[in-house]
Amino acid sequence: MDQTLHPTILAIESSCDETSASVIRSGKVLNNVIASQEVHHKHGGVVPELASRAHQQNILRVVNDAMIQSGIKKGELNAVAFTRGPGLMGSLLVGVSFAKGMALALDIPIIEVNHMEAHVLAHFIGEPKPKFPFLCLTVSGGHTQIVLVKSFLEMKVIGQTQDDAVGEAFDKAAKMMGLPYPGGPLIDHYAKLGNANAYKFSPTVMPRLDFSFSGIKTAFLYFLRDRKKEDENFVDKNLNDICASLQRHLVQMLLHKLKMAASQTGITQIAIAGGVAANSGLRSALAEAAAELNWNIFIPEFQYCTDNAAMIAIAAHFKFLEGKFCGLDIAPVPNLGIGD
Ligand code: KG4
Ligand code: ZN
Repeated sequence: MDQTLHPTILAIESSCDETSASVIRSGKVLNNVIASQEVHHKHGGVVPELASRAHQQNILRVVNDAMIQSGIKKGELNAVAFTRGPGLMGSLLVGVSFAKGMALALDIPIIEVNHMEAHVLAHFIGEPKPKFPFLCLTVSGGHTQIVLVKSFLEMKVIGQTQDDAVGEAFDKAAKMMGLPYPGGPLIDHYAKLGNANAYKFSPTVMPRLDFSFSGIKTAFLYFLRDRKKEDENFVDKNLNDICASLQRHLVQMLLHKLKMAASQTGITQIAIAGGVAANSGLRSALAEAAAELNWNIFIPEFQYCTDNAAMIAIAAHFKFLEGKFCGLDIAPVPNLGIGD
């Protein structure tokens, strides 16, 4: 087998609070081992110092599990890939250092991967695959972007949040209601049981294709405060309706700009990626828009929406084919942008 066209790569993801490793051969993802860090739940958010320590504790086991499960010997690897950024510095350092150590020991090259580009490229793990050019709405705990994807390695952010990410808005709103971290999936869960028209929130106006989620966060805080003055058990009594209404509002904000981007670019291949792409309200709103506007839509499998090393592996595969390796002096970049 020609290794330049059919590489075997180990990929490591450690940008936030999941330690993950994946092995890919000839562009086919063989596995996706993920160790989530429970330690943050009681703190109501990711504590960077605790995250890097947990990565340090988990990484050897996670990489070992991925190698054993894949049935591939370390000597068969052609490269080691890792997330260079964006992410938490301490967390990134663990993955970058581990990848360098392994590559040095095995005398193979390393490949740096941009976490946000990898979220987009997660669409090439399974079927159906989008055709270029396509638009990808990347929505996570740290980012909200509309990306114009021209090829595997050429992407441009055409709209993004100017403050909080939509995942952060979900998580902070959940926290205000007394729900544990991460609150996004819980809001999704309760929203399925509620009436999305029960409460209305004012729209946020933003220019161009940009987003802002800090206004709805404050509006939601005041909404809860005012309702709780009337009835201190307001949240408990109306949790499903509150979650359904808030989720609908956030999803509509996303869809509004996504529709604008599609109409401005004339592109009808529309993908979503990132942790919030797991949201059932977003998935069904996207399906409705697709029916209305003749879009071809792409939603990654659930395990490839939230942070995972399989997406780092597929991104590394395309970089390997283009010979895009990096030197052992490379350092993580916490605010690495698409195209940097
Ligand atoms: O991509 P991701 O795993 O990590 C980052 O790179 O940030 O995204 C995590 C975010 C969290 O804010 C989490 O609450 C949100 O994705 N999330 C959801 C759902 N599942 C995960 N938000 C809404 N509904 C969901 N079902
Ligand atoms: Zn992510």
